[in-house]
Amino acid sequence: MLDRIYQLPFPTLKVTDEYELREIRDEDADAYFTYYQEPNVGQYILATDPRSLIEARAELQYCRNLFRVKRGLYWALSHIKTGEMIGAVGLYTNNFHHRTELCYDLNKDYWRQGIMSAALKSTFAYCFREAGIERIEAVTKPQNEASQGILASLGFDFEGILKAYRYYEGGFHDVTMYALTRPMYELIAPPPQENDLDQLLDDMSKS
Ligand SMILES: CC(C)(COP(=O)(O)OP(=O)(O)OC[C@H]1O[C@@H](n2cnc3c(N)ncnc32)[C@H](O)[C@@H]1OP(=O)(O)O)[C@@H](O)C(=O)NCCC(=O)NCCS
Repeated sequence: MLDRIYQLPFPTLKVTDEYELREIRDEDADAYFTYYQEPNVGQYILATDPRSLIEARAELQYCRNLFRVKRGLYWALSHIKTGEMIGAVGLYTNNFHHRTELCYDLNKDYWRQGIMSAALKSTFAYCFREAGIERIEAVTKPQNEASQGILASLGFDFEGILKAYRYYEGGFHDVTMYALTRPMYELIAPPPQENDLDQLLDDMSKS
C-alpha cells in the first residue's frame, strides 16, 4: 500500500532554479482561472475547465484535498521567486495497485520551453524513488498532439485506444492510454544525486 506517503508532509519538488512544484494555496485561484481563459489550455482536457473564479477555487480545493483523503497529490507549478502559479501537475493514485494517473497543464505563455518536461521528470523521480509507485499512466484525447508528444518524449509507451473511457459533459470519449513503469523508468532515468540519497535516507529514518 502507498499509505506511507500520506503520513509525510506534502512534498515540495524542485524543478529548476526558477520553478518548483508546491502545494496549492487559496491565492492560486486567480492565476489558475486566468490561464484557463486561453481556450487552447483546456480544449482537450476531459475534466477541468473552470468557467468562473468560483469554479476555479472549488476545483483547486478539490485538488488540494486529494492528499488529505489519500487519493493523490496535486502540485502548483510555480515561480520560486514570486510564488505565481503557471501550471499544475496532478497524480490520482490507486494505493492498492501502486499505480497513478498523471495530469498536467501549463499557462500558454510558457509552452515549448521545456518547463513541463522538467516538472514531469521531478514528479517521476518522486514517484519511483520516494513514493513506491510502480506504474504512471496518462490518458489523452487522441487529438491532443502536445500531450502525446510530451509523453512520448519522456519515454512513455503508447498502449492503445480505450473506447468510451471517459464521461465528460454528457458524452463518452475515446482516449489514448500511455504508461511508464518502474523498469522502463530505470532504463532512462538519471542516476540519483548524492543529496537525493541523503534525503531518501533521512525520510526513511523518519518513517
Ligand atoms: C502538454 C503541455 C503541458 C506541454 O508543455 P510544454 O512545457 O510546452 O512541453 P515541453 O516544452 O516540455 O515539450 C517537450 C516535448 O513535448 C512535445 N511537444 C510539446 N508541445 C507539443 C506540441 N504542441 N505538438 C507536438 N509535440 C509537442 C515535443 O516533443 C517537445 O519537445 P521539443 O519542444 O524539443 O520538440 C502544454 O502543451 C499544455 O499545457 N497543453 C494544454 C493542457 C493539456 O492538454 N494537458 C494534458 C491533458 S491530457
